[in-house]
Amino acid sequence: MANRKKNKPLKRSPKKTLSFSEYKRSLELATEGMVEILDAERLIRLIVYMVVKKARLIHAGLLLYDEEKKSYILSSSRGRRGSVIPKEYIRIASDEPIVKFFNERKGDYFNKSGAIRLEDLDSFLKEKAIFRKEKGLRDLILGLREEMINYEVAAFVPGYFQTKNLLGILFLGRKVNGEKFQQEELDFFTALARTAVMAIRNAQLYKSIQKIFYGVIKAMALSIEKFDPAFTRPHMDRIFKMGTRMIEKLDRKKQGFPNMPRELFLSSIFLHDIGKQYTPREILHKEGPLTDEEWKILKKHPVDGAEIFEQIEGLEEVALIVRYHQEKFDGTGYPEGLKGGAIPLGARIAAVLDSFDAMTNPRPYRKVPFSVQHAAMELIKGKNKQFDPELVDVFVEVLLEEGMLSYSDLKEIYPDVSVENLFNSLVSNSAGPGLANIRGTFL
Ligand SMILES: [Fe+2]
Ligand SMILES: [Fe+2]
Repeated sequence: MANRKKNKPLKRSPKKTLSFSEYKRSLELATEGMVEILDAERLIRLIVYMVVKKARLIHAGLLLYDEEKKSYILSSSRGRRGSVIPKEYIRIASDEPIVKFFNERKGDYFNKSGAIRLEDLDSFLKEKAIFRKEKGLRDLILGLREEMINYEVAAFVPGYFQTKNLLGILFLGRKVNGEKFQQEELDFFTALARTAVMAIRNAQLYKSIQKIFYGVIKAMALSIEKFDPAFTRPHMDRIFKMGTRMIEKLDRKKQGFPNMPRELFLSSIFLHDIGKQYTPREILHKEGPLTDEEWKILKKHPVDGAEIFEQIEGLEEVALIVRYHQEKFDGTGYPEGLKGGAIPLGARIAAVLDSFDAMTNPRPYRKVPFSVQHAAMELIKGKNKQFDPELVDVFVEVLLEEGMLSYSDLKEIYPDVSVENLFNSLVSNSAGPGLANIRGTFL
C-alpha cells in the first residue's frame, strides 16, 4: 500500500504535461491495436502503462473480475515508486463497497459517464434528501470514499461488458500537475475502460479456446503413443523441437513464415504421422524391405492423417501439411506427386525435418543411425530432388546454431568452398539467393 503523506505538494515533473486532446489522441491510437493483442496479461500491462504515461498520473491500476476466484483482482498497477498499489495487495470480494457501488450502477447518480471522482463523493454526502430515500446508500458512499483515500485514487472508472456486467475498474491516481479530472476526461476514460475490458475478454476467450485446441492435440498424441510408443512418439517429440528452431530461424530471416499461426504449424509437424495408426504394426516395425503391397499400405498414412484434420473447420492448413509431408521437391513423392512450390511450404519444411530425424535415429529397418554430418550431407545431396534447396540451407544453419554440426563438418561436406564463402552462403542472417521465393507460398 502506498504510504506517501497525504496533501504533500507534488514536485512538478520536468516532462511536459500533455493537454487532454493530446493525450486522448495518443491513447486512442494505442487502443486501436488492442483487439489484436491476444495475450491478456500483456494487454493489461500495456493499457495501465499507457494511461499513466500519457495522462501523466501519479499511478493507475486495473481491477479485473476473476471468474474462478469470484472476486476482483488488481491485475496491473503502475506509477511512481511508493504510490503503486502492490499487485498482491488487492483482492476485492463482490460485496465490498467499490464493487457493490459499480455493480449496482450507483455511479450514474454522480456522473453521466458512470465514473466517480473523490470530490463528487464529498459534495454528494452533503445532500441529505437522497440518503433518506435510499437506505444504505450513505454507508456505501462512505465505504467507497474510504477505499479511494486508502488507494490514493482520484477517480474510479468502471468497465462494463454489455452495459451491465462489471468486468473491471480502472483506478486513476492524481495527475502529476495536480489538476482535477474534467468531465470530458471522465467520458473518455469510461470509453477506454469499456474498450479495454472488451479486448481483455477477447484475449481471455482466445486463451480458453487455445487451451481446448492443445487438449485435442494432446489427446491425439496420446492415441499415437498408445499405438507406437517406441518409434512414432519419440519421432514426434524430436521433430517438434527441431521444427520450433526451424521456424524461429525462418522468422529471424524474415522469410514470411509463419503464414499460419506458429502453434498450428508446430501441431501439424508434431502430428504429421498420425495416419500411421491405421498402418499395421508389422509393416511399421518390419526389419527387412517392404513388399510392393506393404508399401502401398504404408503410403496411405498421409491421406489417412489429413482426413482426421479435415473434420475440423479451421484446421485446413494442418490437413494440407499432413497430407503432403511425403511429397518430394522433384515430384516423385506421394500421395499426389506434387512438385516444387506446389507443395505447401509447411509440408516442404516437414519433409526436411522428417527425413533428418529418420536418418539420425534408429529405425526398425536400420539399427545404426547416421551421424548428423552424414545426414546433413544426404539433405544437401537431396536438394532439388527430395528437398526444397533453400529450406535445406536454413536447416543446416539451424544445425550449426544448435551446435549439432560444426564448421569443420561443413568443410568436409564442401571441401572446395572456403570457410568464408560457407559462412556467407549458409550462415548469414540475410536471405539466401532463392529464399525470397518462400514468401507467400505457404499454401
Ligand atoms: Fe510420414
Ligand atoms: Fe515422420
